Amino acid sequence: MKNNNNIHNPQNLLVTGGAGFIGTNFVKYWIKQYPDTNIIVLDALTYAGNHTNLDSLSGKSGYRFIHGDILDQKLTEKILRENTIDTIVHFAAESHVDRSIHGPDAFLQTNIIGTHSLLKAAKSVWLDTDSPLKHRFHHVSTDEVYGSLKPDDPAFSETTPYAPNSPYAASKASSDHIVRAYHETYGLNVTTSNCSNNYGPYQFPEKLIPLIITNILCGKTLPVYGDGLQIRDWLYVDDHNRGVDLVIHKGHANETYNIGGHNEWTNLEIVRLVCNLIDDKFSNETSLSQRFPHAPQIKNNRSDSLIRFVSDRPGHDRRYAINALKITRELEYEPVESFESGIKKTIDWYLHNEKWWRDVMDGSYQDWINRHYRTGQE
Ligand code: NAD
Ligand code: TYD
Repeated sequence: MKNNNNIHNPQNLLVTGGAGFIGTNFVKYWIKQYPDTNIIVLDALTYAGNHTNLDSLSGKSGYRFIHGDILDQKLTEKILRENTIDTIVHFAAESHVDRSIHGPDAFLQTNIIGTHSLLKAAKSVWLDTDSPLKHRFHHVSTDEVYGSLKPDDPAFSETTPYAPNSPYAASKASSDHIVRAYHETYGLNVTTSNCSNNYGPYQFPEKLIPLIITNILCGKTLPVYGDGLQIRDWLYVDDHNRGVDLVIHKGHANETYNIGGHNEWTNLEIVRLVCNLIDDKFSNETSLSQRFPHAPQIKNNRSDSLIRFVSDRPGHDRRYAINALKITRELEYEPVESFESGIKKTIDWYLHNEKWWRDVMDGSYQDWINRHYRTGQE
């Protein structure tokens, strides 16, 4: 274990992408954990961002939301200077692999150029003016930069060579390299975390788990790509954010940390698990049948009757798995949520927040679903 004499204690944070899935959960987690720190969220509110996620925080002292784009370097510089920001936590990104296949440009623009724009702002305010502020730029990345594993390959470690396969993964890989270069070349204090697939509250229903939950409740088909035997390593979103917290506070400059929960499942297993848990809910809570009249249970069908195998994703990575030994050993990281409890919590959240997911399934969401799944869904 490295001797850690480099503890960072953030006072004023700038969180980019704080109105998205992981960012929203991070901001809520952080405010609960560190109520005496100040936090500013910068978010462009793309289709994936939703400022109502953070409504419960508005008016809270020490918290502010700014609607803006990470590509706007001058805006970021102003925010950094005027608020004596000492820590940037960078979540903002285009994050959906399927959308990156249909339209890579936005991914390169936000994930590569946008990250570079933030780095330039940080360098200008923290380094070029000889600011005495102890700073940290934490970059949130993904395990998808490592590419695809075969069934018996060892899990991804921090030294696994990068081999991104989708435009999304390539754009994140590129941003990881630029972040690293800003440390090596200019001395910016950076850390990076590469996490496996997250699930939990506030996830946009284009990603597998919320798509399956909401489609069951609406009586729509459950699209499984290819043979459904692709493997992902799932982590509850708060466990990801606890890892990010540890890296921000105790991570070594220019180190990268993999975050994961040793929780590999095939997509088909996940879909069947969600189906079974929702079937159980309908058996035990009669009010659900009134609330969701299109759900298959109404006609005494099981949720898994909605499963449909559809064309595979081009370049579909077969397996991801995270070796989280480094963060476990060096920063004493352990996930706390079991998969069983995490997935139940997630289903409950979607059951209790129907307005949230109905509101985000607006016209542009329907356009995406129709375009991507071509035939549309029943
Ligand atoms: P998300 O798509 O739910 O949210 C992204 C947020 O970024 C949205 O609020 C959006 O409005 C904002 N944003 C997009 N472009 C912006 C811009 N140009 N300027 C300012 N804000 C902008 O994504 P997520 O799932 O919460 O992922 C957050 C981060 O975590 C991403 O960097 C992603 O690569 C990484 N990550 C995600 C997962 C996962 O399973 N979801 C796993 C590992 C890493
Ligand atoms: P996703 O949630 O998009 O995350 P990622 O592509 O970043 O891993 O997809 C998770 C897995 O589920 C992935 O292997 C693709 C698969 N999948 C389906 O089979 N059907 C779907 O409709 C979606 C959205 C994903």
